[in-house]
Amino acid sequence: MFIANWKMNGSEAMLKIWLAEIKENLNQDARSSCILCPPVCFISQASKIIQRDDLGLAIGAQDVDPEIHSALTGGISGSMLKDLGSEYVIVGHSERRVNFNESSSLLKSKLEAATISGLKVIFCIGESLEEKEAGKSFEVLENQLKVYNSLTNLESIIAYEPVWAIGTGKVAEISYISEMHNFIIEKTKELNINLISLAYGGSVNSSSSKEILSLEEVNGLLIGGASLEAKEFSKIVNSIEN
Ligand code: PGA
Repeated sequence: MFIANWKMNGSEAMLKIWLAEIKENLNQDARSSCILCPPVCFISQASKIIQRDDLGLAIGAQDVDPEIHSALTGGISGSMLKDLGSEYVIVGHSERRVNFNESSSLLKSKLEAATISGLKVIFCIGESLEEKEAGKSFEVLENQLKVYNSLTNLESIIAYEPVWAIGTGKVAEISYISEMHNFIIEKTKELNINLISLAYGGSVNSSSSKEILSLEEVNGLLIGGASLEAKEFSKIVNSIEN
């Protein structure tokens, strides 16, 4: 599973070029392992091009609002995202946790709302540099996973993204990724979380992807900056074969 998280980047023109280059550089099988998460305003167009050209990529949104009521100015619900063509949604990305103070209880209601709408959630967890240096990484991850308390039947895709590795060019060491992924797998068992896939994210590019993907405990990658270039993203996806 290769998740392209465009964050707040892109345009209609870029989307067309990006998808054309993906068609050229990835075969159908490889494309069907990809989830494109563009800004919400481009989801509908992405979905139309993907269907028209039978590209096979899935689409994800980068966030969803909890469906507490419809009087939420600026809000976008899970059913709206489905309507546009999304199959997945990212919840709990560290940029939203930090910049918008997204709390565990808010994330829980987003998880619930997304699931009720039939979206598959990619739930992001990860420790900050301060937390890592204070020896609190395991504790932080465990607390973040507790959002799933009382949501035990939910199928979960989890993305482990150490905050200090996001957009910094500092990929976590392979032994560290392995240790943290194994810890998450153990914890999900203990907390009765139905984990279906565990991805790594944080400054992944085509130079680091192959080694990370060689770990049995890594089932996919969440790629930010390097996903904006279709050729670089394709190289990452193709690195699983070479
Ligand atoms: P990055 O972003 O690959 O640019 O570090 C990853 C992410 O935040 O999802």
